[in-house]
Amino acid sequence: MQAVEANGARIPLIGLGTWELRGRACARIVEQALRLGYRHIDTAEMYDNEREVGEGLRASGIKRDDVFVVTKVWPSHFAPRELERAAKNSLVKLRLTDVDLLLLHWPNPEIPLAETIGALCRIKAAGLARNIGVSNFTVALIEEAIRVATEPLVCNQIEMHPFLDQSKVIAACRTHHMAIVAHTPLAGGRAKNDPVLIRIGKAHGRTAAQVCFRWLMQQGVAAIPRSSRIERLEENIAIFDFELAGDEMAEIAKLARTGGRLVDYAYSGAPNWD
Ligand SMILES: NC(=O)c1ccc[n+]([C@@H]2O[C@H](COP(=O)([O-])OP(=O)(O)OC[C@H]3O[C@@H](n4cnc5c(N)ncnc54)[C@H](OP(=O)(O)O)[C@@H]3O)[C@@H](O)[C@H]2O)c1
Repeated sequence: MQAVEANGARIPLIGLGTWELRGRACARIVEQALRLGYRHIDTAEMYDNEREVGEGLRASGIKRDDVFVVTKVWPSHFAPRELERAAKNSLVKLRLTDVDLLLLHWPNPEIPLAETIGALCRIKAAGLARNIGVSNFTVALIEEAIRVATEPLVCNQIEMHPFLDQSKVIAACRTHHMAIVAHTPLAGGRAKNDPVLIRIGKAHGRTAAQVCFRWLMQQGVAAIPRSSRIERLEENIAIFDFELAGDEMAEIAKLARTGGRLVDYAYSGAPNWD
């Protein structure tokens, strides 16, 4: 699996999203995805499925060190002691001694960022996370986080798909050598019906979903699509043997529109995206 490298981390370009996958179905999908060649699994404290993600990982028979495991701490646990407790709880549920990447799930304006980032850096220094990073951070928050961090921040996981222009946040991440991981890369499934993506896909014998992932990958962006269907797990990883032309990349970028953002968490004082 090809990967994006950032501040010492090597993040496989396609991962499995697990939001809303629960119980035995979640464990089974994780196991199957790993058997099909996935090497990057995205979970979170908030998804309430870390136990099943760990089960799927062990059932797959794939060596622990060959899989890039990501989890996230929910903003209500960003006070330093709470953050440490949440990270340890996640490891207990996953039955792992560390994760490859621990993220702050959303900004929390109620707790000073310096305190949360300080605690996150200590968690890394203590060996509970091999890498640390953030998610849904704006340009201003990225700059602030970088200023106070004593360990490298390797990624910002953001909503990214053809219907949303994320160029400003991407530029800020690149300045600090942070990887971008695209959550909601299919716009929650909507991308499959887009006529432009379908037409470009047909020209390559591919689906609209595959065009989406390839468009991200050719910008050096990793993607973590979720699917509960095996045939789609296979489809979503089969993107390494075709290439979009420059004019196709540009045409897809033009699909961005006002109101294209789908995920906006209404935590009090949520970031002002504009
Ligand atoms: N950091 C954050 O705040 C944050 C926020 C949102 C999401 N995430 C992460 O990002 C992951 C992905 O986002 P998401 O799950 O919201 O949405 P998504 O991956 O954009 O879309 C998932 C939907 O697309 C369908 N789908 C998957 N593959 C397909 C294909 N090849 N063709 C057509 N439809 C397909 C799935 O249905 P089937 O199951 O029927 O295939 C599902 O309904 C999450 O699972 C989570 O891990 C993170």
